[in-house]
Amino acid sequence: MQNKENVRLAPADGKLGVLIPGIGAVTTTFLAGVEAIKMGLARPVGSLTQMATIRLGKRTDNRSPLIHDFVPLSRLEDLVIGGWDIFEDNAFEAASKAKVLETSLLEKVRGPLEAVKPMKAVFEHDYVKRIDGPNVKKGSRMERAQALIEDIRRFREENQCARMVMIWCGSTEVFHKPGAVHQTLESFEKGLAANDPGIAPSQIYAYAALMSGVPFANGAPNLTTDVPALLDLARERNIPICGKDFKTGQTFMKTLLAPGFKARMLGIEGWFSTNILGNRDGEVLEDPGSFKTKEETKLSVLDQILQPHLYPDLYGKLYHAVRINYYPPRGDAKEGWDNIDIFGWLGYPMQIKVDFLCRDSILAAPLVLDLVLFLDLAQRAGMKGVQEWLSFYFKAPMTAPGLYPEHDIFIQLMKLKNTLRWMRGEDLITHLGLEYYD
Ligand SMILES: NC(=O)c1ccc[n+]([C@@H]2O[C@H](COP(=O)([O-])OP(=O)(O)OC[C@H]3O[C@@H](n4cnc5c(N)ncnc54)[C@H](O)[C@@H]3O)[C@@H](O)[C@H]2O)c1
Repeated sequence: MQNKENVRLAPADGKLGVLIPGIGAVTTTFLAGVEAIKMGLARPVGSLTQMATIRLGKRTDNRSPLIHDFVPLSRLEDLVIGGWDIFEDNAFEAASKAKVLETSLLEKVRGPLEAVKPMKAVFEHDYVKRIDGPNVKKGSRMERAQALIEDIRRFREENQCARMVMIWCGSTEVFHKPGAVHQTLESFEKGLAANDPGIAPSQIYAYAALMSGVPFANGAPNLTTDVPALLDLARERNIPICGKDFKTGQTFMKTLLAPGFKARMLGIEGWFSTNILGNRDGEVLEDPGSFKTKEETKLSVLDQILQPHLYPDLYGKLYHAVRINYYPPRGDAKEGWDNIDIFGWLGYPMQIKVDFLCRDSILAAPLVLDLVLFLDLAQRAGMKGVQEWLSFYFKAPMTAPGLYPEHDIFIQLMKLKNTLRWMRGEDLITHLGLEYYD
């Protein structure tokens, strides 16, 4: 199937502005990494846009270019990064406090990190209860939305950005369901003007981004753009959006293992996941409201992969629990344990234990880079609304209303690569492969 005439990709020329609410562990690890890679001090390990190839045509064709040679993506040298935080620390100070990266590496990228000074944030303590900071905007929600729009305009002008992308790397907000205020753009804007407490800060950033024509990605599990008012705004203005919650650590492991058990029709009786972590994210997640938001995305994954309604004998009685405990000595070096009780032929039980000593922000940083570059590509390809092909990066992928998300990481990867092939008018790869045996 050739689609050459379907997608006209605008070139990736000029500066790409990257605006990030939340200059914490993930953002500073991303930023320091980009600078270190530009200086030739490190390799972009974990990033598809920088390291992965894409197979084109038949297996016998031997065509496997790098993704960044196949589709036009911004170069790291063209990224200009800025953001907002409730704390005044510049990105060097924030990175030093986050303690993800060694001081010796941080010193080498000190200059560019010090240059990133957070703009005043839009913050509501009721949405993130464990932290408070001085670097915040004042006024009604609408006044603060207008101030964000002005921040975006000024950043674009001062840095001469050709295009921009926004990605939420702020703390996880408390669990929050869509209300009447989120149903239409009109009700949402009335809510902003009336300072309706039902509108979360992350939604104010997303509104400001979309009103400014800037694509928006959500790295946390907050509701944010998953409401009719903002979904409609993205579609009406032809702006791509994606989310939610970076797929790293324990859930990444879960989405590798669960499709494997299901593929072999092995049953699961129980899956108990527990985590200890000691960074600021862990502290915020000690609050039951913020934890509930995280728990929802972590729990939904297994249900959607295993489809117990189709396989009641195998997964109908699955007991699934997720715990997160704040444990300061570990800092960003999280430990995630999984105990999985599976059963096989004749119902015989077996156990699997996974102990992942991971580094949260090291796993998340390359996802930030890929999302920024792919979301900008989506916009240059004229794609709008929810970008399901970016599900690969998320624990709770956004989909069109009424559609269940695809969680199997290998199906997600196929979808992502087929989308790139489709953009370039290459044949989609179905893995049927009968032609090799004709
Ligand atoms: N592997 C990972 O690290 C990973 C995976 C999935 C999701 N996430 C999510 O990504 C987000 C960032 O993680 P982190 O480890 O960098 O956390 P962090 O606590 O180090 O950084 C978050 C920053 O956001 C700031 N912030 C909070 N509310 C804000 C607002 N309204 N406006 C501007 N800034 C605000 C905080 O002051 C803090 O500096 C969290 O929501 C986390 O749950 C992280």
